[in-house]
This record gives sequence, structure tokens and C-alpha cells, in this order.
Amino acid sequence: MYIENDVERVLLTERQIKERVDDIARRISEQYKGSYPLFIAVLKGSFVFCSDLLRALDIPVQADFMSVSSYGESSVSSGRVKIMKDSDADVKGRDVVIVEDIIDTGNTLYALKNLLLQRGANSVKICALLDKVSRRTADISADYAGFEIEDEFVVGYGLDYAERYRNLPYIGVLKRSVYEK
Ligand code: PRP
Repeated sequence: MYIENDVERVLLTERQIKERVDDIARRISEQYKGSYPLFIAVLKGSFVFCSDLLRALDIPVQADFMSVSSYGESSVSSGRVKIMKDSDADVKGRDVVIVEDIIDTGNTLYALKNLLLQRGANSVKICALLDKVSRRTADISADYAGFEIEDEFVVGYGLDYAERYRNLPYIGVLKRSVYEK
């Protein structure tokens, strides 16, 4: 596959990802037993992770999508999120799980979590496949996290560089030459 030529090395294999996704799904299925949580996938990066995660759950769930970007002000407690596509579901009284591919500074999730709580969600938990802990500036952490990773340029399994590489089945580190040219 030609896009593989742009990958420096594989960081997480398909098998590693699947095992971790299944672990997270088991935990969520236990913790939400008897309830009907609303899963909100944050577009676009999370679409692959969310698709695998939801199919590994054995509880009934509602799936929805939002497209947001933060204004990068983690010190502002609410409302600092630009919504390009809003949730179709009413979050009032719902147990919400936000699904993200990666937490970097944390600004996006910080703002989005506050927004959903302001709208009356009963609870808001965060499920993120990748966590760049060293980059965090906002006071936020994942309730369900897949892998802590170093500050490297990762692509695949939903993550892009200039909209490419989302369809790689694994997560790889992009060659410098690709983004420095
Ligand atoms: C990524 C990721 C989060 C956000 C995390 O999205 O999916 O939404 O950045 O960054 P933060 O923790 O610093 O706020 P991106 O803007 O790359 O959009 P995409 O998912 O559509 O590729």
C-alpha cells in the first residue's frame, strides 16, 4: 500500500489496538450495565475507533457525532468551543461518553465536556484511544484511555496528516520528510 511508504515505524499494531479496544469495551459494558449511554464521537479522527469500540460493547447505546474545535483557552471554563456540527440528540439527563482519537492539549475536550454538562447531561465521561500526556495544558483526563504516547506525529486508524492516512489500519509515526517538505 503506497501510503505505508510515508510511515517511519509502526507504533501500535492492529492486534495491539484491537486488544485495547476490547478491554475498554468490557469496562464500559460493565460500568454502564442497565443504562443507555449516549456516545458522541468527535469528528473526524474518532470515526474508526468509535466504530470498533461500539461494535465491541454488549450494552444498548445511542451513537451520535459532533464536529468541534476549541479556541485554545483552557482557563475559560465553558462555552469556548466552536461547533461545526452539533449533536442531534438531546443530552439533558443523559449519561454521555465522548469518544476521541487523541487528547493533545486537552482544550477541545475540556470545552466540550463543560458544554455538555451545561446542557444538562447527567454525566460526561471521556474515552480516548491515544493520550499525549506531555502536551496537556487543560485540566482534563480520560476516564477510559487506550495508550499514553510520546509527542510524535502519529497517523492512521482515523488520524490524519493533511486529511491523508486515516485509512491505515494501524497507528504509525509519520516520516519527517512528509511534513517538512
Ligand atoms: C484532534 C483530535 C481532537 C483534538 C485534540 O482533532 O481529534 O479533537 O485534535 O487536540 P487538543 O487536545 O489539543 O484540543 P483535529 O483538530 O486534528 O481534527 P480531526 O479529528 O478532524 O482530524
